[in-house]
Amino acid sequence: MKRITLLGIVIATIFTFLFTSCNQINKAKMEKSKGITRSSFGTAGGKEVFLYTLINSKGTEVKITNFGGIVTSWISADKNGKNSSIVLGYDSLSGYLATHPYFGAIVGRYGNRIAKGKFLIDSIEYTLAINNGPNHLHGGVVGFDKAVWEPTVENDSVPSLLLSYLSKDGEEGYPGNLNVDVHYTLTDEDELKIEYSATTDKKTVVNLTNHSYFNLTGDVTNTILDHELQIDADHFTAVDSTLIPTGEITPVKGTPYDFTQPTKVGLRIDSVKGGYDHNYVFNKIDASLTKVASVSEQKSGRVLEVFTTEPGVQFYTGNFLDGTLKTSDGKAIQQHAALCLETQHFPDSPNEPTFPTTLLLPGQKFHSITVYKLSVIK
Ligand code: GLA
Repeated sequence: MKRITLLGIVIATIFTFLFTSCNQINKAKMEKSKGITRSSFGTAGGKEVFLYTLINSKGTEVKITNFGGIVTSWISADKNGKNSSIVLGYDSLSGYLATHPYFGAIVGRYGNRIAKGKFLIDSIEYTLAINNGPNHLHGGVVGFDKAVWEPTVENDSVPSLLLSYLSKDGEEGYPGNLNVDVHYTLTDEDELKIEYSATTDKKTVVNLTNHSYFNLTGDVTNTILDHELQIDADHFTAVDSTLIPTGEITPVKGTPYDFTQPTKVGLRIDSVKGGYDHNYVFNKIDASLTKVASVSEQKSGRVLEVFTTEPGVQFYTGNFLDGTLKTSDGKAIQQHAALCLETQHFPDSPNEPTFPTTLLLPGQKFHSITVYKLSVIK
């Protein structure tokens, strides 16, 4: 009798084990299936915010929150099949509610700097918040990176998330009610496509970008100094000591700013005071979606290509990161732990008549596309 009971227990245990394992495997499979799912990410400004997980047919996973339109992680396999995130980000909303340097965020209404926070439209002077030395940076004190965006999930052939935001007339000093849409799509080719559009009811200025911090090793304890970068730009916009363009479009040839050929980021960084934080002027002459830059990292085999309709990119080497901020698992985010390729119009364009215009008129539609495409060389 005792033996039978014991046998029963053993069989029951085996069945329970098999059942639980199968369930876990199925759950893992389900979690990895192509599409878009939503989970709660907390509250900001009294509104519930969400974290969306976009998964493509390769199992690549991009997480985006409608708080600031932030890309919080982009998990993909390296050449050895090891999964890790190629962007800096936090696991929970608290990191984003605290001060952080625009990790993964949508930046606007005007990404980058406007000198002294002032510009004229039709002889009317507009005054913006001064939040970066003497200048205005990245849309002001409460820019688009801190807004709660209205989310719409689209799950047709590829997972896609539409984020909408109404930036009211006078917000941060900008004129006009601006209706902004940012459409994130993760394709099966491991492309994260970001499509921006905006309309206004008064003349205003617009410059939208995404501020993702990339580290292709997937490990923030490595710097990006060994990453190889190529930018299709023979010129950059020279800047003064407060990073405002002087108006001069300077050739990169023979300078440490030359990335026309694939070059290690760290090779000449010591000759650039503070590190790279410069706007490159692409060679392309029109607003077609064109490949403009690529970054590769040997150990992981990862390659990131950048395509955009924009005329420039702010190449920033995480110079102001200093180890104070920690990742969600407690690792210090050191200087040069990541690099940004912020596709954009040039800084301070509202005050530089020779730069491509950033003026948006009522009746016009602002439209811009940037694609970050990830691949692996084995
Ligand atoms: C941009 C700027 C940098 C810095 C970062 C955020 O890239 O150009 O100077 O402000 O954003 O820290």
